[in-house]
Amino acid sequence: MSAQIHEQHRADSLRRAARRFATGVTVVAVRHDGGDHALTANSFITLSLHPALIGVSVTSGGRMRQLAEKTRYFGISVLNAEQGDYARHYASRGRGGAPQHLGLHTPDTLPAPIVPGCVAYFVCRFEHTHPVGDHDLIVGSVVESEVLSEEHPPLIFLDGKFS
Ligand SMILES: Cc1cc2nc3c(=O)[nH]c(=O)nc-3n(C[C@H](O)[C@H](O)[C@H](O)COP(=O)(O)O)c2cc1C
Repeated sequence: MSAQIHEQHRADSLRRAARRFATGVTVVAVRHDGGDHALTANSFITLSLHPALIGVSVTSGGRMRQLAEKTRYFGISVLNAEQGDYARHYASRGRGGAPQHLGLHTPDTLPAPIVPGCVAYFVCRFEHTHPVGDHDLIVGSVVESEVLSEEHPPLIFLDGKFS
């Protein structure tokens, strides 16, 4: 087996195994020049409680890394089980402005947008990034976090499907 085929086989195998790992689904969002930029991410992780640090892994060279560093703040919204349309929209390529029912909201008290009606959110200050292969791990310190709904279950991503 050539090295290239071996590498492809390993990547496919990793992808298949990772699909069996159930995750929640978040929308990571920044506000810049009066507009919002957001993407769907399930790589969110709480890294530390003291200090309060979280991480999210984003494609290197993508806009999110640049904009999070530039604007200094980003919001992470944990989607509820009824918000699969948000997940699909903010994962779609070439998405323009969001349709009104999938819009984000920046409360006067917060420096970053969140998804209305999400289960919980974290507003984070950009700290630094670590290159991790073809992604960048954005590390943020949590400046505010809140549970918005105890009764709605979170959206789950498993085997390539939302539930
Ligand atoms: C369930 C789900 C989870 C995702 N998680 C991530 C993630 O953690 N990091 C990432 O960079 N892209 C992730 N993606 C893909 C991005 O949402 C998608 O590629 C998006 O178009 C990237 O936005 P951009 O083009 O502005 O960089 C995920 C997609 C889905 C459907």
